[in-house]
Amino acid sequence: MEPSIEQIREDALAELDAAADPETVNALSIRYLGRKGRVTLFLRNISSLPPEERPAAGKKANQVKKALEQAFADAVEAMAAAPSVEDRIDVSLPGRNPRPGHVHPITQITNRICEIFLRLGFDVAEGPEVEKDWYNFEALNFPKDHPARDMQDTFFVSEDIVLRTHTSPIQVRIMEKQPPPVRVVAPGKVFRCDSDLTHTPMFHQVEGLLVDDRITFGDLKGVLTTFVHEMFDEKTSLRFRPSFFPFTEPSAEVDILCVICRGEGCRVCSQTGWLEVLGAGMVHPAVFENVGYDTERISGFAFGMGVERIAMLKYGIDDIRRFFDNDIRFLGQF
Ligand code: PHE
Repeated sequence: MEPSIEQIREDALAELDAAADPETVNALSIRYLGRKGRVTLFLRNISSLPPEERPAAGKKANQVKKALEQAFADAVEAMAAAPSVEDRIDVSLPGRNPRPGHVHPITQITNRICEIFLRLGFDVAEGPEVEKDWYNFEALNFPKDHPARDMQDTFFVSEDIVLRTHTSPIQVRIMEKQPPPVRVVAPGKVFRCDSDLTHTPMFHQVEGLLVDDRITFGDLKGVLTTFVHEMFDEKTSLRFRPSFFPFTEPSAEVDILCVICRGEGCRVCSQTGWLEVLGAGMVHPAVFENVGYDTERISGFAFGMGVERIAMLKYGIDDIRRFFDNDIRFLGQF
């Protein structure tokens, strides 16, 4: 069946509604009102209607034709009257400066840490964030079901795959690939199912590993002391407390003199005068055996530090979550 004149009118108005410029409206006008336009053809076909229907149909179609002519003309006029871009924008106003971004404070501190160790002759290495149980635990002398695994609230991806809970698996990956000597720091994201004022489920660590002939705990103390003096200042003394990690023996927790109160006791150091910043120790022979190193000939030390913790002490920040809120007012200060 032929479309009714009502239908043609509705189609035309819908298309006009969508038209955005005078050219489109002119094209529409031709398609509806031109020599072969839909309204024109409709009018021409009226002669084929039964004689008694012709007058009413003709009247209706002419009304539609007039209404559309008017609508198209009005639309073109309205478009011409709309203000131009030049009228709407004051091109003489000064522009808005783009705000340049900068390196995130955590990245800045990570870079600073690596820089200090690079100067001490260390290389920088990285490893995967999604890690095999073997590298994150087993090869580091955490047997399956050993209570030492409870120290780290792990995100398991599957039974054998975890989000790494520390950067220590990078030690194993490096030693697997190269014979001693090894001198490397490894920065990266780590993940633990943990969240409060001083813990976020994702945070950053820098791992350190040095393996060679006759490396002693004295070397570990010397390297870490140099690092702390560079990172903070020469007055920041260190304290080594006995501790436990499955992959180091002996193990130590390393504290620095409170950078806020200098040992007097304050809120930041919980009145102790000391701040815990590092885990460290001599690499356990079981780890060397897992990577095929000769435990008779070589020895080494490892350490791991939390980057957020160092950044908080360096900048005097009391809530770790600020680093990841993405608040420009906070980040812009560093
Ligand atoms: N990986 C340990 C942790 O995340 C830190 C550590 C690294 C301890 C290297 C000893 C040696 O707690």
